[in-house]
Amino acid sequence: MSGSSIFDQLRADRSTLKEVVEDGFPRPEHTRVIAVANQKGGVGKTSTVVNVAAALAEGGLHVLVVDADSQGNASTALGVEHDEEQASIYEVLVEGARVADVAVQTRFAETLWCVPSTIDVAAVEIELINASQRESRMRLALEEYLRDREEGGLPRLDYILIDCPPSLGIMTINAFVAAGEVLIPMQAEYYALEGLALLTRSVDRIAQIHNPDLTVSMIALTMFDKRTTLAKEVEAEVRTYFPAATLTTRIPRSVRVAEAPSFGSPVVFWDPRSTGAVAYKKLAREIATRGTRAAERHDDSTEA
Ligand SMILES: Nc1ncnc2c1ncn2[C@@H]1O[C@H](COP(=O)(O)OP(=O)(O)O)[C@@H](O)[C@H]1O
Ligand SMILES: [Mg+2]
Repeated sequence: MSGSSIFDQLRADRSTLKEVVEDGFPRPEHTRVIAVANQKGGVGKTSTVVNVAAALAEGGLHVLVVDADSQGNASTALGVEHDEEQASIYEVLVEGARVADVAVQTRFAETLWCVPSTIDVAAVEIELINASQRESRMRLALEEYLRDREEGGLPRLDYILIDCPPSLGIMTINAFVAAGEVLIPMQAEYYALEGLALLTRSVDRIAQIHNPDLTVSMIALTMFDKRTTLAKEVEAEVRTYFPAATLTTRIPRSVRVAEAPSFGSPVVFWDPRSTGAVAYKKLAREIATRGTRAAERHDDSTEA
């Protein structure tokens, strides 16, 4: 609000920037598969996926984004074609295409790849209703892809980030079965905690049936406005219930983050020094350095 707070912010951004660009990101021991999910739309899932992916790739890591939302926003934001001619996650899940034949290299980094989504992807929910292995198709396809890369002498992927649709349908279930962790982006709003409770219950249910290791390892506060009392209160509550999973870095509301997709670019590449880009780089570093340490969190927090 006051002039000095803007300067403080700029100073903070500059020191953060230094901190995040100085060295590359640590490479995880195994490929980390992270489903980025929230059944609510407009909470920052896609922005989080593309910008964290961009920052990790810029830090030298090998990253695949799986666009699992028929709106194709992650594909757009990564500058990847997604008209009807383009093979997409639909062909992988419904027709058995190989991820290796569908994944597209982005123009931003040699190590940043995307499995696009097209409007066809909306039909996956219906096509898979009576299909065999309908919940595990994404996992099987990604496992095959990791093997294909190994056999082809390609570097091991460090991260697979799955951009989920705003629902808990078969696509999101596929993402939960494929993933080792769930990252929930959330806006600090009044009903956010109710939504979070529903989502963690769904994750637990999928974990029980299909994927015992699955955990909500991370919660990221997005579009955060630290001037509002409500945002601070909601943040405090989320940190109380999910002390280990809630990431320290908050993503502020920043018009640059919202503008970047119209240039077919993550803000991390389009305006790397903007507040939003700096925050996403910091978030990516936090995600990369904490590994899967937060795995314990969920149990102690559900008891609270
Ligand atoms: N930090 C931010 N500041 C301002 N606008 C944002 C921010 N993050 C996302 N947006 C905008 O909010 C809208 C919803 O974000 P998006 O990432 O598409 O959410 P979701 O994938 O959950 O629907 C988009 O128009 C996006 O550009
Ligand atoms: Mg989205």
